[in-house]
Amino acid sequence: MEFIKVTDNKEPYVALIELNRPKELNALNRQLMEEVRDALQQLDKNDAVRVIIITGSEQAFAAGADIKQMADKTAIDMLMIDQISTWDQIRKTKKPIIAAVSGFALGGGCELAMTCDMIIASETAKFGQPEIKIGTMPGAGGTQRLTKAIGKAKAMELILTGRFLSAEEARSYGLVNKVVPKEMYLYEAFQLAKEIAQLSPVAVQLAKESVNRSFETHLDEGLTLERKNFYLTFASTDQKEGMQAFVEKRKPDFKGK
Ligand code: HXC
Repeated sequence: MEFIKVTDNKEPYVALIELNRPKELNALNRQLMEEVRDALQQLDKNDAVRVIIITGSEQAFAAGADIKQMADKTAIDMLMIDQISTWDQIRKTKKPIIAAVSGFALGGGCELAMTCDMIIASETAKFGQPEIKIGTMPGAGGTQRLTKAIGKAKAMELILTGRFLSAEEARSYGLVNKVVPKEMYLYEAFQLAKEIAQLSPVAVQLAKESVNRSFETHLDEGLTLERKNFYLTFASTDQKEGMQAFVEKRKPDFKGK
């Protein structure tokens, strides 16, 4: 891996993917996104990992897709290279992914954070979809996810002007879970990850799938999936253990079975 670092031994059950192109503010070139895809595929299969954190540097989560790599491409080049297809793995990852964002999260960087399941932000974070300023538009879900996260009026303003949102604004609009001082964003992401990692990975995975479905389908289909997944948790020993532990007033011991 040239442009990312993967660590899975900082805390039990929590893996960290660090984007690592600091000089280019973690601009997302194709190789970097292929590395993220491959890492997510491996971590999703690894039983010793239950929650994944993606982070950048203090200065930049990611300043967007690599403009220099795209600048001279034709529409047909873009279509044939189809670089955004590598992003599908983020959406397909079954384990929860937390984005720990400091500094710039712009264009594809904002889209990457929004493709994760939750966002913990440093007070220095800046979110935006400035593609309009370079004659293009969001291409990795920004028009859809930002609109669903913060509503049409504000999303339209950001996407049509390229303005940035501060971390605090992003939190107040519901894009971000929590804003913390800049020394704390990674720590806070680990705290959230550790809390989730203690729970039944079976139930967490099914619950994540169900919440995501609410973005992808109409209510009827989403409710049907939710109900099916709820019933399915009763096939796990974790559900038996969790409910039995409650009855016995003790801490559950979840095995992921
Ligand atoms: C390639 C980038 C880059 C990017 C920064 N750099 N962003 N290179 N692609 N997206 C490089 C700069 O060229 C520079 O390298 C170095 O990183 C530092 O950047 P500066 O501009 O000197 O830093 P600063 O003045 O602090 O400004 C920071 C910034 C600005 C506001 C974030 O860099 C910026 O506006 N970047 C582009 C943001 C953007 O438009 N993103 C959307 C991209 S399109 P050199 O070597 O030149 O000094 C997109 C579409 C997604 O994301 C579609 C799905 C894949």
